[in-house]
Amino acid sequence: MAGSGFMGRAIAFLIVSRTNASVELFDVSEDSLKLAAAEIEKYGRKSVEKGILTEKDFADAKGRIHYSGDLQSAKDCDLVIEAIREDLETKRELFSKLDSICGDTTVFASNTSSLPITSLASATKRSDRFIGMHFFSPAHVMKLVEIIPGVDTSTETIDRVRKFGEEMGKTIIKSLDFPGFITTRLGMVLINEAAFALMEGLSTPEEIDTGMTLGYNHPMGPLTLADFIGLDVVLHIMETMQSGFGDTKYRPCPVLRQLVSAGHLGRKTGKGFYDYGGKG
Ligand SMILES: NC(=O)c1ccc[n+]([C@@H]2O[C@H](COP(=O)([O-])OP(=O)(O)OC[C@H]3O[C@@H](n4cnc5c(N)ncnc54)[C@H](O)[C@@H]3O)[C@@H](O)[C@H]2O)c1
Repeated sequence: MAGSGFMGRAIAFLIVSRTNASVELFDVSEDSLKLAAAEIEKYGRKSVEKGILTEKDFADAKGRIHYSGDLQSAKDCDLVIEAIREDLETKRELFSKLDSICGDTTVFASNTSSLPITSLASATKRSDRFIGMHFFSPAHVMKLVEIIPGVDTSTETIDRVRKFGEEMGKTIIKSLDFPGFITTRLGMVLINEAAFALMEGLSTPEEIDTGMTLGYNHPMGPLTLADFIGLDVVLHIMETMQSGFGDTKYRPCPVLRQLVSAGHLGRKTGKGFYDYGGKG
């Protein structure tokens, strides 16, 4: 597992708590690895309290995660799942290094929300053994995994990753490698359209959100969701989809751009579409 941040640590916990596999959890940041260990302890305690895991299961699962700041720890892994920061060049550089460390049969998977899988795969000499494996947050709770074969991904790789996802108790959907895949594309377009509706003065943020929670049974309105995700992340994905499709249909709403340029990124800065009183 490359990247021990928000997603990486939850995916690591998911794997050891739902399968017999061991995880080498790698990160360039010592602090992130420490935080990951503390958070995994919390996930485990909660699972024990809820009766999902026994104390023994949890102790056993914890013992199968090894924390490392050395990329060589990936040497004997069958599958490498990458969840480092969302930047094409950083991810390509990591995969290129991993390509020279890992054995020929190792499959590489990226948890990217929006970057092109085919482009990530081309940083390696194993584009047939490269795939998108998109988890949802929190990864150990959410039921879905979206898999995204690149142009050269083999059927064997798709089957292996699908089987592993199912072993972890997930429902698998498969998308072609076009910008935003299925879930990011539909989710971000809804958020962007809600921002346009707000800009046009169609209604208040609260009423726009209530329209979707009560009218469509969404657990959270699109503007509330955007504040959770981070408006900078939403803007970046809209830009990726606009340039990827070359279609103005995906132009980011100017309100989104304005809030980001003001530093109002949502919950993490205390203000976005809603005001959280300066607290995240
Ligand atoms: N946050 C979400 O809800 C969510 C959902 C689905 C997919 N994703 C995707 O998952 C990936 C990670 O997102 P996150 O929210 O966990 O980010 P995060 O910022 O919480 O974690 C990223 C981690 O990557 C580490 N890192 C950065 N560069 C590295 C490198 N070169 N080698 C090793 N580690 C490195 C950082 O130290 C950090 O611990 C992104 O591609 C994101 O798009 C996120």
